[in-house]
Amino acid sequence: MLAKLFISLLNVSPALKRAAWKWWYQRLAHRGMETGWSFMNYGFTPRNVELPLELLPQDEANRLFIQLYDYTASQMPIEGLKVLEVGSGRGGGASFVARYHNPSELIGLDYSESAIELSRRLHKDVPNLQFIKGDAESLPFEDHTFDAVINVESSHCYGNVDAFVKEVSRVLKPDGYFSWVDLRGKDMVDETESIFNLAALNLIHNETITKEVIQALDEIHERKMAMIADNVPKVLQSAFKDFAGVKDSQIYNAFQDGNAVYLAKAFQKVTL
Ligand SMILES: C[S@@+](CC[C@H](N)C(=O)[O-])C[C@H]1O[C@@H](n2cnc3c(N)ncnc32)[C@H](O)[C@@H]1O
Repeated sequence: MLAKLFISLLNVSPALKRAAWKWWYQRLAHRGMETGWSFMNYGFTPRNVELPLELLPQDEANRLFIQLYDYTASQMPIEGLKVLEVGSGRGGGASFVARYHNPSELIGLDYSESAIELSRRLHKDVPNLQFIKGDAESLPFEDHTFDAVINVESSHCYGNVDAFVKEVSRVLKPDGYFSWVDLRGKDMVDETESIFNLAALNLIHNETITKEVIQALDEIHERKMAMIADNVPKVLQSAFKDFAGVKDSQIYNAFQDGNAVYLAKAFQKVTL
């Protein structure tokens, strides 16, 4: 039953979606305390790159997840700027952006207390990084606080994505940037496009990256299967395989046959 949940959760009532995802991420963050995994995205393998992203040896194991962050962060200027990540999960992506893209300050925000606690513990040595608890649909910041906002594979959980996009626009400074990546069912693409169609947000980058995400899912398949076999109780293994997008899971097959897509967009805030 749980295995079917992830696809169906892309398109259920806002209140149910919000509650179900919150329950799931609280559970996952508790489990993360044991495994030390600090990413929860499907990963990204860039095509046609001559030079692979240079990473420190300790970051190599997370290359595929990091590449999704690097792709998202690279759509806008970040160096020396004040950046917010909404839906920072276990904080691995925020830590990568803080260390490699050199913002003056990066705040990772997530609505799961367990994820925030875990992130603070795992990334306590990164000086320009902090984590706070908060809701994407009602951001706990003044207007015009950030130069850039990043959002990686999180918005499919939100009950009201419209409220989230308006909140991002509100907390961005004039001329600030917003870079977003996430999956959507094929039937939800038009609605998603219209939610982002705010007068204050000028589209500067728009790409479908499903192929690059499938490539990453293929590359990490064996590692995920071993991790699930070693760490997840048998009764939950099928749900975890679906969530993790291993080969032949519903979401993997949906990406392959075009019933789900992985989208990337970036915007610059314009003064109206
Ligand atoms: C698939 S995980 C991705 C985490 C991280 N971005 C990464 O790539 O590793 C989605 C994250 O979004 C968070 N999330 C879901 N709904 C949220 C909301 N309304 N406000 C803040 N965070 C939320 C979840 O707690 C979870 O940590």
